[in-house]
Formats: sequence, structure tokens, C-alpha cells
Amino acid sequence: MLKKIQEWRGKETSKSSFSKEELMQHQIPEHIAVIMDGNGRWAKKRALPRVAGHHEGMKTVRKITKSANSLGVKVLTMYAFSTENWKRPKLEVDFLMKLPEEFLGTFLPELMEENVQVRLMGNKSDLPAHTLRAVENAMEKTKDNTGLILNFALNYGGRDEILRAVKNAATDIQDNKLSMEQLSEEVFSTYLFSNQLPDPDLLIRTSGEIRLSNFMLWQLAYAEFYFTDVLWPDFDENHLFEAINSYQQRGRRFGGI
Ligand code: FPP
Repeated sequence: MLKKIQEWRGKETSKSSFSKEELMQHQIPEHIAVIMDGNGRWAKKRALPRVAGHHEGMKTVRKITKSANSLGVKVLTMYAFSTENWKRPKLEVDFLMKLPEEFLGTFLPELMEENVQVRLMGNKSDLPAHTLRAVENAMEKTKDNTGLILNFALNYGGRDEILRAVKNAATDIQDNKLSMEQLSEEVFSTYLFSNQLPDPDLLIRTSGEIRLSNFMLWQLAYAEFYFTDVLWPDFDENHLFEAINSYQQRGRRFGGI
């Protein structure tokens, strides 16, 4: 099905291998958002438990962070756990909640070396204390880093984010801290979890699913979408380069002509 979309678009180049130098001759997306899908299917294909797919997916996060940073991408937002993912079996939820600790426990020195800044986007209050502690510790340690911002969407839901932003803005209006006239799109954006971050230019979703799954509903208004059949644990630097090349072929008009 994805092949059909690409044929229909008729714009994608048939080339599938790109060098960093080639890509850097054109506009590199400032912010890439990723829906990391297909971990379960990756594991199933190998007769492994689903969590083995998540563990492999964690290693992909490291590789893609490095590649994106070396291309000069400013923000990489990774959808690691949605507000709907609590419905999964407890064993899987517990495993997913331990991954940030393992990831940061293992790779924090490398992230420091690479000047990467860690951030968190989502509803913190329902996260287990150990998960929050690990991420907040990494945020504190990396806060002065000036390279890529690695933004984890954890217990994140787009509708939840918009609803709480509406409530907080309404409270500020009630308390006379904000007037109705001041509430512009720009001001409203500051009430979102993504406050201060530019909107994503490119959204990548792996594993062949073609939907947004409640991800960054406000911020993706003008993003270019890239869908690939590749499962997240198999996604590598060359796949990232393909996605960026596809982005570079698009004519972004932001509603203009
Ligand atoms: C969706 O695949 C993936 C998730 C719900 C979790 C994504 C998490 C990671 C890739 C690891 C994150 C790493 C860190 C450092 C926090 P799925 O399980 O729905 O796959 P399926 O559709 O094939 O079953």
C-alpha cells in the first residue's frame, strides 16, 4: 500500500541510498517527530517476546539520535509511550517504563559527549517515580548541552495535551493573567507540552501504519508525513536519510501558493 502512495505521489526519487553530504546540500528538517512502531511485529517474526522488540527499538533510538545530530537536526521527538499504552499487559507496561532508565543509564555519557539535550513531553504525574527520576536526572545533566534536543514523548496524548492547555489558558484568563484578545495561536502554543520547541517539519511513522495515533495533533498541522513499511527495530541511518530526502523533494507552501 505504501508503494502505491509513493507511485501516486510520483515525486519520490527511485534512489534508495543517500550520503550525508548530498542531504546537507538541501534543507535539513529542524524538527523530526517519530512514531516508533513495529517493535511487537519485529519480535513476533523472530518468535521472541514483544518486549524484546522494545529493547531492540531502544537501540534504534540511540542510532537515530546520533545520525540526526550529525546532520544538524535540532529536535528529535520520539513517541515512546502514549496515554493509551496503559491498556497493554502489565508486564509490557512495566518493561516500557524501565526502558528510559536503561537507555539513559547506558547512554547518558555518550549523549553528553555528543552535546545532546534530553527533554520530556507528556503527563508526568502518572509516570512511575523511577521513570520520572531517570528522565529528570538526564534533563538536569544535559540542560546546558546545545546540540540536538532528544525529546521523549512519555505518557503523551495529543488530545490530553490540547485539553490541559485549554484549561490552563482558561484559568489564566479567569485570573486576569491573560486576556481573550491576547490568546493567539502563538500564545496558545506556549501552554502545550512542546512549549518553546519549533513545530515538527517531518513526521516519520514506521511499520506500515498510516495514522497519527493521537500524536502532536496541534504541532503537526504543517508537517510533511513520511510512512515506511520498515519496522522500528530495523530502521537505520539509511532509512532516516531516505525519509529526509523525501522531505527535501516536497514543496512546502504552508497554505500559500
Ligand atoms: C509501538 O510498537 C511502540 C511502542 C508503544 C513503544 C516504543 C518504544 C520504544 C521504541 C523504545 C523507547 C526507548 C526509550 C529509550 C524510551 P508496537 O509495540 O505497537 O509494535 P506492533 O504494532 O508491531 O505490535
